[in-house]
Amino acid sequence: MSLTVRAPAKINLHLGVGAPREDGFHPLVTVYQAVGLCDDLTVTPSPGWTLGVTVPEWMDVDAVPVTGDNIVDRAAQLLARHHGASQEAAVSIAKSIPVAGGMAGGSADAAAALVALDRLWGLGTSDEDLLAIAAELGSDVPFALVGGTALGTGRGELVESVPDTATWWWVVVPSERGLSTPEVYRRFDQLAPDAAPEPAGAEAVLLALSTGDPGVLAAALHNDLEPAALDLRPDLADVLELGERSGALRGLVSGSGPTCLFLAEDADASREVAGRLSEQHDVVLVTNGPVAGAHVVTYG
Ligand code: C5P
Repeated sequence: MSLTVRAPAKINLHLGVGAPREDGFHPLVTVYQAVGLCDDLTVTPSPGWTLGVTVPEWMDVDAVPVTGDNIVDRAAQLLARHHGASQEAAVSIAKSIPVAGGMAGGSADAAAALVALDRLWGLGTSDEDLLAIAAELGSDVPFALVGGTALGTGRGELVESVPDTATWWWVVVPSERGLSTPEVYRRFDQLAPDAAPEPAGAEAVLLALSTGDPGVLAAALHNDLEPAALDLRPDLADVLELGERSGALRGLVSGSGPTCLFLAEDADASREVAGRLSEQHDVVLVTNGPVAGAHVVTYG
């Protein structure tokens, strides 16, 4: 018997960041969208615990942390401990989400592991408990379970689905080198020492989603971490400029970066923008959203 769960990458259409809280985390108001770049995680029964990973040829397999304290091990430990079950399975991850790219690939893998192991071990964990375990694993993990388009508050772990009936087309340019999320937040603190405790609200993006008009959404996209990511990686400004010159409605850094995202008018335009970006960048992907959160794709 084996079971495969697919979990999506996220992008932040709005990322408002406030001054750090007492626990060191930053209060967020964010609008997440799950997009069609997905990791597939397969579990099979096994007398012990193993974790393996395969990557597309453009990704560096050594960049994927599968040994030591990685988030999939922690997901399995928390779920097993919650039920007093033993942590036994062979797990393999087929990655497509850029690693350390600001698209929550590790969070997607953790969410997929929770759904897959819950089924494999026959635990029947309630949605409420699964979301609580997800929140313990990382700020973005609950959203990877929920998917679609959602408003995120707290440190990002409190998610509430929002209406989003359009299909939005994105061009994604991953970077060869990743960026560390804590480092980007530290640079945010240095660049914005007077940040308000209350993050910028997401009204403009929520309104734009309801119009279904990519031009309106392009104008509303907002990322408070972008200046910090660009300060750490000034080369990203050239990528953003090239995408916008190539016909994208708007370019922005994805979450804490360094992946760059471009919103296109429609599917045809996204392929044109991707074609032009490909002249200068080896890896250029086209995707769309919103898509579903972590869900079973094969069972048997
Ligand atoms: O929650 P997660 O493990 O994904 O967070 C990784 C790091 O990102 C945290 O240790 C913290 O440095 C930073 N972070 C933050 N505020 C948030 C989310 C993450 O400062 N809301």
